[in-house]
Amino acid sequence: MPYDTLLSPVSIGNLQLPNRVVMAPLTRNRASQPGDVPSEMNAHYYAQRASAGLIVTEATQVSRQGQGYVATPGIYSDPQETGWKAVVGAVHARHGRIASQLWHVGRVSHRSIQEGGAAPVAPSAIRARDTQVFVKHDDGTYGMTDADEPRALDIGELPGIVLQFVDAAHRAERAGFDMVEVHAANGYLLHQFMATGTNHRTDDYGGSIENRVRFVIDVLEAVAGVLGAHRVGIRISPNFTGFDLHDDEGEASSLYLARELKRIGIAYLHLAEGDWAGGAPLPEGYRRALREAYDGAIIVCGEYTADEANARIECGEADAVAFGRAYIANPDLVERFKADAPLNTPDEATFYGGGEKGYTDYPTLDEASGG
Ligand SMILES: Cc1cc2nc3c(=O)[nH]c(=O)nc-3n(C[C@H](O)[C@H](O)[C@H](O)COP(=O)(O)O)c2cc1C
Repeated sequence: MPYDTLLSPVSIGNLQLPNRVVMAPLTRNRASQPGDVPSEMNAHYYAQRASAGLIVTEATQVSRQGQGYVATPGIYSDPQETGWKAVVGAVHARHGRIASQLWHVGRVSHRSIQEGGAAPVAPSAIRARDTQVFVKHDDGTYGMTDADEPRALDIGELPGIVLQFVDAAHRAERAGFDMVEVHAANGYLLHQFMATGTNHRTDDYGGSIENRVRFVIDVLEAVAGVLGAHRVGIRISPNFTGFDLHDDEGEASSLYLARELKRIGIAYLHLAEGDWAGGAPLPEGYRRALREAYDGAIIVCGEYTADEANARIECGEADAVAFGRAYIANPDLVERFKADAPLNTPDEATFYGGGEKGYTDYPTLDEASGG
């Protein structure tokens, strides 16, 4: 069989994955309105992809305050929890496994999305320049607009944000998710705390690496308190440079964080590699250093082919590989890898927003051959 290693089983936390092909988290802006509630169509989309070793859901806001784009799903209301329960049920019915990606966007937002038109929140009041968010305009049409100037969070507000993640973890548990993935990547709130360019705080949550990583650890420990650390993963992207994010110490702070993950017993570390979003490639030796610092499972993601994924696992630098755009267009990605079959091409025009087109209508190999 081609890609033997990629297609071999692995355990992550207490979960047994039949293969090491992970569906990467993919925002699709198709939650039902009003209320940003996962729908039957969303359940069908995830169920179509249930042969993945593990599905990580699209980023899911833990609160209204944590939202930065229209029609992304939440996990803070009863209807949302019920919607997710149906999604998880549909994936489990097809013998899949699914983790909820818990998200707070921080400054990558706009007043028009926030409760009562409030300013978005961030570690420091530093606006993300050249950053656009997807909003509903006053005339009812949708479009992109500049991210707003955020308000710096008071230290007394931080426990409240931790609580948003805790409440979301309780809802994820009740919805039946196998795991949660704390989103600390791609320039959103937790990443904003870790990065030198976005965190200019002078209290216990700013300055040194230990201080900048502290808030992420607060969130992880609290979420692990709900689900058990063996059911919690984290996504990081030390080299990400989108949304005007700059970090002079991204690698050093991620290695410090990795040692903390080991202490807490976090099940997996999901490394979103910089290249796809324009960041620099990871430096030589970084992956080995990460392995030494952390003893849980490592998932990597970013422009991998099946061949490269297989090689990355074979050389011991990762335990599993997540695929993003390939999963948008290939619901049966695992079966295609097994058959070494060609892949459908993703249609970028239908990535964000819309209905079934470009979402649930990509054919499987069987369907393509008329079977
Ligand atoms: C349409 C789209 C939506 C994405 N949404 C998310 C998201 O919600 N959370 C996240 O951590 N990364 C998100 N990403 C990044 C992907 O998870 C992945 O890291 C990236 O696509 C690179 O992998 P690939 O080359 O296999 O596509 C998104 C990427 C795309 C293309």
